[in-house]
Amino acid sequence: MKPFLSIENLTQRFPDGQGGTMTVFENANFRVEKGEFVCILGHSGCGKSTIMNILAGLAEPTSGVVKMDGFEVSGPSLDRGVVFQNYSLLPWLSTLKNVTFAVKARFPDWSREKVHDHAVKYLDMVGLSGDVIHRKPSQLSGGMRQRVSIARAFANHPKLLLLDEPFGALDALTRGTIQDELLKIWSGTEQTVFMITHDIDEAILLADRILLMTNGPFARVAESVEITIPRPRVRTEIIEHPNFYAIRNHLVHFLGTRSRELAGQQGGERPNRPETVRIDKTDPADDPAEGAPVLRAVNH
Ligand SMILES: Nc1ncnc2c1ncn2[C@@H]1O[C@H](COP(=O)(O)OP(=O)(O)OP(=O)(O)O)[C@@H](O)[C@H]1O
Ligand SMILES: [Mg+2]
Repeated sequence: MKPFLSIENLTQRFPDGQGGTMTVFENANFRVEKGEFVCILGHSGCGKSTIMNILAGLAEPTSGVVKMDGFEVSGPSLDRGVVFQNYSLLPWLSTLKNVTFAVKARFPDWSREKVHDHAVKYLDMVGLSGDVIHRKPSQLSGGMRQRVSIARAFANHPKLLLLDEPFGALDALTRGTIQDELLKIWSGTEQTVFMITHDIDEAILLADRILLMTNGPFARVAESVEITIPRPRVRTEIIEHPNFYAIRNHLVHFLGTRSRELAGQQGGERPNRPETVRIDKTDPADDPAEGAPVLRAVNH
């Protein structure tokens, strides 16, 4: 089957500021299926936002291509909705207008009233209602601005939702609520989500798969870790699942040690594909020593 999103031999080099070049990543290859929720984890500076900007069509890679539905991505499109790391709202428009502006562009046939109600609904979903929606971005807190940006992206129902640390500026409670809303929106649609996060627990809660990047320069998407915890997942319950800590430990170990050990290995012309990692303690074949029922002699 043709993948929904295909990243092929993607290489990004930037001037290093000293007359030379710096290679962020080289010949990166990975795929995302339609309807998948994929998170990407990696240390600061490894190239996550760079990949996302290329997926969004906002930046050109040095070489390689991104294909969506079989077509090469070039330039931005309303099919791809982005929540940036720095929110990027239009400062001269009110909160409400920042959302209606985008909804109007996406659904040009809608009446003014329908656009308004749709925008209000999505702002309400992220906890913004009442007078606050008439304020300009400069009159909002950082977390509120981030929520406007999330509402705007969600309201547009893009085929591909690209999220760059969308919940970074939110307090834990709001973050939890909006994560739940995101899961609700995603599971009720055909949307595909590609999300950057620094939060391991958030990634396990949300993702079907987590891509792990090694440190840059010459970063690689080294692994694709399947999240073998059934949905629907409830934040307070997933920690009880036998796979939770096994997966979590794997991710922590990768970010703590292996992302550094594997760093800087130049692949050259070879395509770099992530290795699939599947950890499933509920499957006895996965790890006979730990997964199988343990028979113990009992002395009364
Ligand atoms: N326009 C640019 N010109 C030169 N170098 C750049 C440019 N954009 C990014 N870089 C460099 O590319 C590397 C990857 O940057 P990127 O923003 O993709 O990292 P990131 O993984 O998103 O990090 P963080 O987690 O801190 O957001 C960094 O070393 C950065 O300095
Ligand atoms: Mg970034």
